[in-house]
Order: sequence, then C-alpha cells, then structure tokens
Amino acid sequence: MRLLRFLRSSVSIGRDIDYYSKFSPSPLSMKQFLDFGSENACEKTSFAFLRQELPVRLANIMKEINLLPDNLLRTPSVRLVQSWYVQSLQEILEFKDKNADDEKVTYDFTDAVINIRNRHNDVIPTMAQGLVEYKETHGTDPVVSQNVQYFLDRFYMSRISIRMLLNQHTLLFGGKVKVNPAHPKHIGSIDPHCRVSEVVKDAYENARNLCDRYYMNSPELILEEYNVKDKEKPITMVYVPSHLYHMVFELFKNAMRATMELYGDTTDHPPIRVQVGLGTEDLTVKVSDRGGGVPLRKIDRLFTYTYSTAPRPSIDGSQAPPLAGYGYGLPISRLYARYFQGDLKLYSLEGYGTDAVIYIRALSTESIERLPVYNKSAWKHYKTIHEADDWCVPSREPKDMTTFRRF
Ligand SMILES: Nc1ncnc2c1ncn2[C@@H]1O[C@H](COP(=O)(O)OP(=O)(O)O)[C@@H](O)[C@H]1O
Ligand SMILES: [Mg+2]
Repeated sequence: MRLLRFLRSSVSIGRDIDYYSKFSPSPLSMKQFLDFGSENACEKTSFAFLRQELPVRLANIMKEINLLPDNLLRTPSVRLVQSWYVQSLQEILEFKDKNADDEKVTYDFTDAVINIRNRHNDVIPTMAQGLVEYKETHGTDPVVSQNVQYFLDRFYMSRISIRMLLNQHTLLFGGKVKVNPAHPKHIGSIDPHCRVSEVVKDAYENARNLCDRYYMNSPELILEEYNVKDKEKPITMVYVPSHLYHMVFELFKNAMRATMELYGDTTDHPPIRVQVGLGTEDLTVKVSDRGGGVPLRKIDRLFTYTYSTAPRPSIDGSQAPPLAGYGYGLPISRLYARYFQGDLKLYSLEGYGTDAVIYIRALSTESIERLPVYNKSAWKHYKTIHEADDWCVPSREPKDMTTFRRF
C-alpha cells in the first residue's frame, strides 16, 4: 500500500517537473527586487509570483540533474540532494490553488519558504561529496568532467538565484518588523547604497585573521578608489553586500596564501593592492597580489570545481575554517559576479603576481539575473559525444624540414 502511494507520488512529481520545466525562468532586475520591497511591498504579490516561479526554477534544474551520469546519480549524496529538491517542489506546489487573500495561507507560505531555505543549506558540500564518491569508484574521464563542470556552474547559479528569491521573501515578510534594525536602509538583502570599499575592508580584515592564524603574519592592504562620476564621493552601488563580500573574501584568501607561500618566513611581504573604479558601465574591483602568479596554461583550470593546490582540509568542523583547499572559491565567486551580469577574471604575470578582477554592472537597470534554462541546447551539452579537437595538436618534436627539400 505504502509502495503504491510512493509510486503514485513519484509519477505525479515527475509530471510536475515536466510541466514546470517547460516554462523559462523569469529573470528579475535589481530594480524589480527593490520594487518588491518598497513602500507598497505586498506579500500577496510576492506570494503569487513565487508560487509559480519557484517551481519553474526548481523544475528546470531538476531536469538537468537527471542528465548526469547514472553512476553519479546513484551516489548517496546526489540522491540526498535530489530528494531535497523533490520535497521542496512538493511543498511549494501545495500552495498552487490556495487563496492568496487568505492571511493564513500567505503566513504558512512564508513558513514553508523558511523551511525550504534551511533544507538546502548544505547543497554545495553534499554535492561536492557526491563527486568525491563518484571519483573514488569510477575515476575521472574528461567527457564526464566537462559535463560535470557545465552542470555545476548551472546548478549552483540556479541555487544562488533561488536563495535570492527565498531570502527576499523571508527578510521582507518573515519577521514581525519589516525593517532590519542593523541595516534599516536595506531592502531585504540588497543595499541600495552599498559602499564598496567598506565591504572590501571588512572582507580583508576577516581574511587577514585567517591568514595570521596560519602564517603568523599577513600582507597589508592598499585600497584606492577612482570615482569617475563624482571624485569626492565614496563609491556606492545597488548590490547585495553579502555577494560582494563573498567574492572579495575569496580573492583575499587566495592573494594572501600566494603571497605568504612565496615569501615564506620573511617579515616583509608585499601588500595586496585593491583598486575600486566606477565608470559609466562598469564598477570594477581589482585585487592585485605579488604572490608569484600562475602560468596561462593553468588559469582556466583554477575555475574548475575541486581544483586546489592546497591540502584538503578536514571536514569534521573541529578546526578553524581553512584558508584554502576545497577549490570552490574561484568558481563560486565567478558565479556570484555573473549572477547580475558581471564577471570575474584572473590575469597573471607568472613570476610576479596575479590580478583578480571583479566586474559589476554600474547601472542597477542593467543588473538582471542571469539564469540557466533547460532546453534543447542545454540537453545537447550532456548528450553530444565530444569529438576530436578542430585545432592541430602540436607534436613534441618539430618536423625536420630538411626532408621536404627533395620535393
Ligand atoms: N592569487 C593567486 N595567486 C596564485 N595562485 C592562485 C591565486 N588564486 C588562486 N590560485 C590558485 O587557484 C587555486 C584554486 O583557488 P580557489 O578556487 O580559491 O580554491 P582554494 O583556494 O580552495 O584552493 C588555488 O589552490 C591556487 O593554486
Ligand atoms: Mg581560495
């Protein structure tokens, strides 16, 4: 009986996933996020939007999870992640036909949103664990690695976007007071006047504490601002400070580690230089270190998940948070930058140091969510057999040109 009920519910959830994955997610602009939280913020509107949009975003990415290699899908960790997605989708769909004018309904919905957010807290380490389990039993293969990289970028981007929606709803409508006492001007997680340099300093201090703990010392910070629009004023923008913090914190940890490893026990470390520039299109944050750099051949590799040159930290949680080692710092930071149409790039001078540059749209009207959509071309990425490269592979020994003279 129970099995029958289980089978019936898994058939119907399969149908729901099919149905909702046919819709494309609707990207929101920073302005729309702000409007949701402005004076006339209405819980009912947010509820009506989310009960449609959350299933769409969930179903779109669930379709892609299903395209992962069978052996990866069968790992306990990936199954666990999948079960969270199914459970959350079911919980949102409970509200499909409920009356939006009923306060009890919107109240219960906010509760459900909080539960869902908490359920998905550990998605990143759990998914990472699934990959480790898979690699241990099945080894690595370049086609699978490429598909997994493609998938994880989309999967984590989808997660960032879903959490943004969940957070905005709970921060705006979850508490008794709408205004966050610590940040009365914030709209949910967005700061309409985010002072970039303050976030940079904060991230620097925290990275420096970690660095001091590992190396007993840390590089100084030089911070410069270039505000083209108004030279006298500190640079501000409409942004999610926690996203900016995440990115610069990761870049600082990397820059500090590279510097400390290169300079060893000497007491004189070159400082980390941060330049913040505001132009008409871009807001740019450049973090420059003199930690010896990375050869060009390796730069792309740094953005692959799990790539790290640091020893793997223990995950029992008993030790202080590590300075490096999971290999998720750069790829996830780049997703945060891309989420609102920006980017994150590394430029290196091998033998000298590295510039890591975060690009953010200066105009909030241009800051629009960048979301993966499940469609034919996404599907093709997983299904096409990767053919031979269309550029020649250089052979180790250059051809002996003298043999051609005879012709
Ligand atoms: N500023 C830098 N200078 C030199 N190497 C770097 C720098 N930033 C990143 N790297 C290299 O890229 C790797 C991946 O970085 P990241 O994704 O942050 O993961 P983790 O820091 O956990 O190793 C690092 O292990 C390091 O080898
Ligand atoms: Mg790092």
